[in-house]
Amino acid sequence: MAYILGIESSCDETAAAVVHSGEQILSNVVASQIATHKPYGGVVPELASREHLRNILPVVRTALAEAGQTYQSIDALAVTQGPGLAGALLVGISFAKALAFALDKPLIAVNHLEGHIHAVLLEQRQKGNRELRFPVLALVVSGGHTHLYLAERREEGWCYRNIGHTRDDAAGEAFDKVAKLLGLGYPGGPVIDKLAAHGDASAVKFPPSQIKHRDRRGKKGTEESGPRFDFSYSGIKTAVLRYVERHGMAQDIQARRRALERLSKPVLEDYLAVCDRETLNLIASFQRAMVEDLVTKTVAAARSYEVATLFVTGGVAANGELRRNFQKDAAMEGLLVFFPSRPLSTDNAAMIAAAAFPRWVARDFAAADFSAEAGLALTGMR
Ligand code: KG4
Ligand code: ZN
Repeated sequence: MAYILGIESSCDETAAAVVHSGEQILSNVVASQIATHKPYGGVVPELASREHLRNILPVVRTALAEAGQTYQSIDALAVTQGPGLAGALLVGISFAKALAFALDKPLIAVNHLEGHIHAVLLEQRQKGNRELRFPVLALVVSGGHTHLYLAERREEGWCYRNIGHTRDDAAGEAFDKVAKLLGLGYPGGPVIDKLAAHGDASAVKFPPSQIKHRDRRGKKGTEESGPRFDFSYSGIKTAVLRYVERHGMAQDIQARRRALERLSKPVLEDYLAVCDRETLNLIASFQRAMVEDLVTKTVAAARSYEVATLFVTGGVAANGELRRNFQKDAAMEGLLVFFPSRPLSTDNAAMIAAAAFPRWVARDFAAADFSAEAGLALTGMR
């Protein structure tokens, strides 16, 4: 039994949460920086660090207050070590280290990707579902990552094995870049999600991403042996760019960008008012191609590794069509599929506090000199 204060600052959300024993969320506070980065069409690392510095103390105080906890009453702190933006991670880590030292409480370092997987476990435990069959196959799909992991519980803690990842852009990055290319602003995923329903998804055909045959098997004798299910999304982004050029859409895009920039919080009607049919069809077709690729590869990986349960998590897991298609295809294959609720799909600190709980039980605490690791991998046992 433990009350853990989680802190997350790996990208553009400053987040803090209190979670009880990895299964009950007492508070979950997220300060979004979207407004700060919007004018630049993407996350600006220096601005992200500065915003984290500004937000971290109020966010932590609010998380404690909403949970009815105090600095003294919590049992441990947990913080994201990586992967993410080094400067952004350092803000959370420095803050958590100082607080843990001052309070003389243990500090647990958590991998952000592990956090996304535990977002699903946390909510399933909260719902009382203790019947999950392991290993599960987890698709972590966000702005920075597209990874497939086999995950299972062992005596000493959780064990993860990567069986696929993106060779270039992450899926969320492709959503964001295509939205930017079409003058729809940042972040692109939620806008494309809303607009796709208004277009014809069969209007534009995108060739499926090609991974060379010889690359489809992992290296023998390494963690990555066995069949691989890698992804590649830079090609589809270029295909959208070529479509835009071939169809002379540049001027309309420019006008759309200016019209939307004038609005502080555009709603669906505002987007629809500045998108013609051709653009809506392109958006719907792009989303369909992305979703089909993610679903097909994940289901094929589940079949290949004889897994019965899927987790789909990370920012892109908020996508409506992705959820529907996963449900449909998983049902046909006799697979169970679980998603986090939408607030727990995108970055948050409840998932960090939940992932820390098994480490708290195992007394696996961070050394005093641990630091941010921008490229931290989630492999094997930690
Ligand atoms: O997990 P997350 O909050 O941050 C990272 O760890 O990257 O994911 C953010 C990403 C962004 O690329 C955003 O465009 C995408 O998730 N996203 C979506 C949706 N909501 C967020 N992509 C597709 N459909 C959505 N509804
Ligand atoms: Zn994330």
